[in-house]
Amino acid sequence: MADPSDTTPADQPARVAEARWRAVIDAAVDGIIVIDALGQVEVFNSAAQLMFGYAETDVIGRNVSMLMPEPDHSRHDGYIKHHLDTGERRIIGIGRAVTGRRRDGTTFPLHLSVGEMTIDGERHFTGILHDLSRRHELEDRLREATAMARIGEMAAVIAHEVKNPLAAVRGAIQVIGGRMPAGSADAAIVKEVIARLDGLNDLVQDLLVFARPPAPKLARTDLRHVLAGVVGLLKRDPAFAALEVTVAGPQAIVSGDANLLTIVFQNLVINAAQAMQGRGVVDVTIAPIEGWQRVEVIDCGPGIPPEIKAALFRPFKTTKARGTGLGMATAKRLVELHGGRIAVSSPDGGGTTITVDLPAAPTN
Ligand SMILES: Nc1ncnc2c1ncn2[C@@H]1O[C@H](COP(=O)(O)OP(=O)(O)OP(=O)(O)O)[C@@H](O)[C@H]1O
Ligand SMILES: [Mg+2]
Repeated sequence: MADPSDTTPADQPARVAEARWRAVIDAAVDGIIVIDALGQVEVFNSAAQLMFGYAETDVIGRNVSMLMPEPDHSRHDGYIKHHLDTGERRIIGIGRAVTGRRRDGTTFPLHLSVGEMTIDGERHFTGILHDLSRRHELEDRLREATAMARIGEMAAVIAHEVKNPLAAVRGAIQVIGGRMPAGSADAAIVKEVIARLDGLNDLVQDLLVFARPPAPKLARTDLRHVLAGVVGLLKRDPAFAALEVTVAGPQAIVSGDANLLTIVFQNLVINAAQAMQGRGVVDVTIAPIEGWQRVEVIDCGPGIPPEIKAALFRPFKTTKARGTGLGMATAKRLVELHGGRIAVSSPDGGGTTITVDLPAAPTN
């Protein structure tokens, strides 16, 4: 920057105009980028700096294509040339949704409108950029909420149309089975039929809990107590006889619904146990952190399969032959109903940690 003492009084109005122009550009909430006919950046306002994570000095004089992922990154020079050669307008004066690339390599959606100007016979282009990340996020949430409402309606219909007849069929079969001689081949078949019907009933029940969870009945609840219950249930399952579940940590009081939290941790511990193929140790730790009580369920199984990872909390994502894929989605829903949050960490080397934070109950 020039030393202000260099300026002559005659420069003063120009400097004031420049400062005012710059202030306007930097006060804009949207990103403003000006490039020349070669695509080199001439102006990169404060909002653009925030959006892309670059300082102005990192970008000025460089090709604007550095702010785009492929294929635009390689093609942008061609886009400008095509416009200058033919006068054809593909984005200029129109604007459209494009993808930006931040300094850290991540990409984000933005709306770009481009205007063209000629100063001293030179062509320049002004881009106004509006970050669409937040809007897209809201749209995703709205879509999910709409889908959930539909699943909720469907679950209610299933509950009515399937659960009740299922109970009737089960009762009738049990009566028939009771008339058969104990130990007969037919009695074994009846037992199998009943087990299948119970499986079907559980599935419908799981779907109901996921789609229409009851409003949590909040009370002061000790997470250690909830987890002891979950471990107790697991111990009774012969499939997990060779599995040890340790629970470590101090008393942890949250404002929660013990029944719903049991469903949450049962799902997480069973997933961990299944990942360990019923053998070894699953560690559960409980610790307070800044207004939350944090529970971590840690296994040293193979880790979350890559094809599942991004959509782990979506319903019906499963890699198990007899899984519904509702466990994690239900856990997330119930945790969020408690004002909590859930996250997964599953490094490439294997092992999975699921972290649940629940708001700590006020001390009294
Ligand atoms: N601790 C874990 N280690 C490895 N993979 C896991 C773990 N937890 C979940 N997964 C993966 O995520 C998928 C989804 O889990 P989720 O609990 O939602 O459904 P599920 O266990 O397949 O079926 P369900 O819980 O209804 O029996 C699982 O199929 C499995 O591939
Ligand atoms: Mg599961």
